[in-house]
Amino acid sequence: MTSSRHGSYTIDTTIAPYTSLHAYKGRALNGIWVTAPYLHNGSVPTLYDLLLPAACPPDDKKAECRPATFQIGSREFDPVKVGMRSEYYAGFTYNTRLPGNSNAGHEYGTAAIVKDGKTVPPLSKEDRPDLLDYLKAQ
Ligand code: HEM
Repeated sequence: MTSSRHGSYTIDTTIAPYTSLHAYKGRALNGIWVTAPYLHNGSVPTLYDLLLPAACPPDDKKAECRPATFQIGSREFDPVKVGMRSEYYAGFTYNTRLPGNSNAGHEYGTAAIVKDGKTVPPLSKEDRPDLLDYLKAQ
């Protein structure tokens, strides 16, 4: 059942007051620009990277995707990609290939999807900076 809130889950009733808790509620994005690295396990260094697919197609050498490894620990803000400096810095290496470190998932907008019979294209190269600017302002 769809409630007045976003998403699709069963609303609470007097008889079953906790059913809405069976849905996962993503955090509000207030101040998101300053909370890198991203996702619950900190597996994506910047918001720019979060808008890319987790893995590049093996046959496409020019494709952009999230970094498989990156440096953490820097306090230098990267205003272009929106996150902390994560390369050319001798910090701790975060390896997304290790168990529990996966950067997969949350790939909305990185590939075309079919919704209500219509194909919705992925975010374009021009869309991404606009969305980053919007996220910076949250
Ligand atoms: C372009 C559209 C979207 C943007 C810009 C966006 C932005 C974000 C950001 C920045 C985070 C990271 C929060 C953090 O690390 O603290 C996040 C997490 C999350 N988002 Fe989105 N989101 C989008 C679409 C969606 C959609 C369509 C869904 C669900 C259908 C969704 C569900 C979630 C969930 C569940 C998390 C938590 C993931 C985790 O902790 O690993 N998001 N989102």
